[in-house]
Amino acid sequence: MISITITGEKKVYSVSGNEVLGSLPLMSQEEVEQAIQKASQAQKGWAETELYKRADVLHNWADRLVEKQTQIGEMISKEVGKNRSSAVKEVVRTADLIRYTAEEGCRIHGDTLRGDSFRGGSSSKIAMVEREPLGVVLAISPFNYPVNLAASKIAPALMAGNAVVFKPASQGSLSGQLMVESLLETELPEGTVQCVTGKGSEIGNFLVTHPQINMITFTGSTATGQSISKKAKMIPVVLELGGKDPAIVLNDADLDLAAEQIVSGAFSYSGQRCTAIKRVLVDDLVADALTDKIKKKVEGLSVGAPEDDATVTPLIDTNAANFVQELIDDALQKGATLITGNTRKDNLIYPTLLDHVQPNMKVAWEEPFGPVLPIIRVKNETDFVSLANESDYGLQASIFTADVQKAMDIGAKLHVGSVQFNAKTERGPDHFPFIGAKKSGLGSQGIRRSIESMTQDKLFILNK
Ligand code: G3H
Repeated sequence: MISITITGEKKVYSVSGNEVLGSLPLMSQEEVEQAIQKASQAQKGWAETELYKRADVLHNWADRLVEKQTQIGEMISKEVGKNRSSAVKEVVRTADLIRYTAEEGCRIHGDTLRGDSFRGGSSSKIAMVEREPLGVVLAISPFNYPVNLAASKIAPALMAGNAVVFKPASQGSLSGQLMVESLLETELPEGTVQCVTGKGSEIGNFLVTHPQINMITFTGSTATGQSISKKAKMIPVVLELGGKDPAIVLNDADLDLAAEQIVSGAFSYSGQRCTAIKRVLVDDLVADALTDKIKKKVEGLSVGAPEDDATVTPLIDTNAANFVQELIDDALQKGATLITGNTRKDNLIYPTLLDHVQPNMKVAWEEPFGPVLPIIRVKNETDFVSLANESDYGLQASIFTADVQKAMDIGAKLHVGSVQFNAKTERGPDHFPFIGAKKSGLGSQGIRRSIESMTQDKLFILNK
């Protein structure tokens, strides 16, 4: 993939720790420099490639991913501890996303504007506005969707005529590389996509401040996203960061539906999703009934190994598990009620439900990225909005109610990117815009928005 000599490497273990899956090249700054130069050179030719040819490359890539869904799914499952069926689903979802991107990318057109006077006699001018690629896009993906959240950056960048420097998360890099290998088997011109891996301390700043990087698209923690946005100079940055998505349950809600959606939203992939439901704000009048329904569903979740297709599996590493445990311990010390869970085997934390969570408890505000769900009882309807908005995050929110007007009224007051009515929070379908307010992100993603974010206007003006 990269005809560069790599000076070091690091073993990548399965999340279970029992298997060496492969090794991660530890590239030096000089090696990264070569990769950026190659991408930059290849971009010029790629930008001139007809749209239908770019689309053919993407369709071909999607076909290969579908062919290799079992192999790549297996790697995702072992490398990031995602259960097998979800891992394979991630690959197929990615193929769908790539195909849609190919088609949407063919329909990104410029427009024309006829001049008007503006007191300057410019009415005879005609502007032709075209969309141009930005150049080299740096795509940085997280561990939790090592294929999907990488391809959702690479595919729109390519359709827009950019080259890509792809930096996967270390844990997830082997899955990401398998996905890129499928792309490199297509007719994509050599050099257009470069995969760079290594220690953040060695290559992180070098990448984000490099003068030949023209745009950065990043998914990961809020702390890293903030650091990237401070360092990137005069280039567009799109960020998808953390969340603390609330499920707001009003007293007229269908509680069976709410419980089912909340448990699925909170605990799939052990809560390691930015869009997981991370707190329940429930009207006190129905709190006992809802808690009981959620408890039954949580206790029915399968817990175990990814290869057994369990819903709740070991977390990505020991630090992650320790952090979740600290949040649980802090809440219990401060008087929260343990409804179920709080059992731990190494990095496997059993799904944990906490009731009577109060604002002085860390779990009310912090993002666990793990299988713990706090229930906060709300007595006054105005408290739903103030508690929801008090969070630093503003990714999504769910509102469960039978009253559409009330849902719209509350939704309009929430400082979040998306509001879901009577359903869990989630990113897809992948062509919907995906936005994070406050510390949850910057810019808008989703297939069309992503392509647009990776292009810029260029005007040609006809003068009489
Ligand atoms: O972790 C962040 C992802 O964008 C969440 O995607 O809602 O499809 O799980 P998802």
